[in-house]
Amino acid sequence: MYQKYVQHLQKTQDIQSASSILHWDMETYMPSGGGEMRGRQLATLSTLVHEKMTSPEFERILYTLRDDETLGKIEKANVLDSLRSLEREKKLSEDFVEKLSLAGNRGFNLWQKAHKENDFDLFAPQLEKLVDLNIEKANRIGFEGNVYNALLGNFEPNTTTDDLDHVFEGIKKELVPLVKNITESWQANAEILKGDFDPKKQWELGIYLLEKMGYDFNHGRMDHSLHPFSTSFGPEDCRITTNVKGNDLIDTISSCVHEGGHALYEQGVDMKYYGLPAGKSNSYGIHESMSRFYENNIGRSLSYWKAFYPKVQELFPEKFKNIAVEDFYKAMNIVKPSFIRTAADEVTYHFHIIIRYEIELALLNKKVKVKELPELWNSLYKKYLGLDVPSNKMGVLQDVHWSDGSFGYFPTYSLGSFYAAQWEHSIKKEFSDFTDRVERGELRFIKEWLHKNIYMHGRIYFPDEMCVMISGEKLNPKYFVDYIKGKFGV
Ligand code: CO
Repeated sequence: MYQKYVQHLQKTQDIQSASSILHWDMETYMPSGGGEMRGRQLATLSTLVHEKMTSPEFERILYTLRDDETLGKIEKANVLDSLRSLEREKKLSEDFVEKLSLAGNRGFNLWQKAHKENDFDLFAPQLEKLVDLNIEKANRIGFEGNVYNALLGNFEPNTTTDDLDHVFEGIKKELVPLVKNITESWQANAEILKGDFDPKKQWELGIYLLEKMGYDFNHGRMDHSLHPFSTSFGPEDCRITTNVKGNDLIDTISSCVHEGGHALYEQGVDMKYYGLPAGKSNSYGIHESMSRFYENNIGRSLSYWKAFYPKVQELFPEKFKNIAVEDFYKAMNIVKPSFIRTAADEVTYHFHIIIRYEIELALLNKKVKVKELPELWNSLYKKYLGLDVPSNKMGVLQDVHWSDGSFGYFPTYSLGSFYAAQWEHSIKKEFSDFTDRVERGELRFIKEWLHKNIYMHGRIYFPDEMCVMISGEKLNPKYFVDYIKGKFGV
């Protein structure tokens, strides 16, 4: 019976992977006129997946296995995870799943146009539909406490708005004075990072850094897309994309290392468990912790650049041959309130998330109307970052997430940073020479440590359980605050 379960899930995974390939294509090579048709194809595949995941036969297999005392620990955990998904899926009808997928696709296409033309009204009616559909989705799934919990649970199981409020309130209090202290004391020259950087050489640097961190190009590749992302069709094929801008070297570096961190995780899950919960990545927050650990904790550290700055100097000699590594490091770590989330420094970044979280809570609890969003958005940017948002393109229209109805996603970005700081604390306890190793350019031991502690466990444990296993306690934002204080010397 367990074998039947495995086969069923692996076939379903094949369809899901095919759909991921279509998504990847949509964002890399698909001609712009292919959008409507692609939306239809993706909707068909998502219906097929839904059918398979909720089929009476699969349900019978799962309920039989639930009571099977002969299953081992991992087998049991797989079955329980699948049962939770089944019960969730069953609450959404096939019609509803298709409606969501189509609305999301239409939303994405409209948002692209609205973003380009700086025209919020073009996107607003569809966003309104997406909010309503998400409220309906939450009601179908069911929740305790806030309606938001039903959607958050999609991305971060076992986490509620109470947990988020607790973490964010703690962080807010600490970050406001920290930002002030850092901006006053951090001496850096931003000018040294400005200039024109040959896109081909930037690409080469990205590939070099990915190889150093242990990304396997035999099971991966990098392509161009408007927004960098990573995607996996199974551990044997995990791809990343980047968007090289001629004048922004740091953006290329951080997006490659960030997406590389995601992809290392996907390459590291066990092929033996392909399609099974044990062979999948954990929550979104844990996933994001893998990318941010590489991007920020490692990739924005002085020891990392002591190892790899010579490559930057070799590729861009006119620009960097007379600039010291310390100055390069300081310039890439300037803390300054800014409009665009994806370009924010690792400290003020969390205000961008807190703002989105507050807006999502208000939307889903019907405390604000879609047409009032630009005003609300701009007032929150003033409140938390002291900025006057110049346009909707630089404001409420900047992110792709709401366009396909992904509500409850943003907080996982901050959770990722907070988890990453906790991992850094833990790995340094095990490797007291952590910094020396990084300075010598040795990064493989980090991948091995993450493999042992995170990659290989798939979804066998809840994120909060895994956090306790690794660090001895639940997520504690104190580690992030300590990390920032230590790094910036404040
Ligand atoms: Co990410």
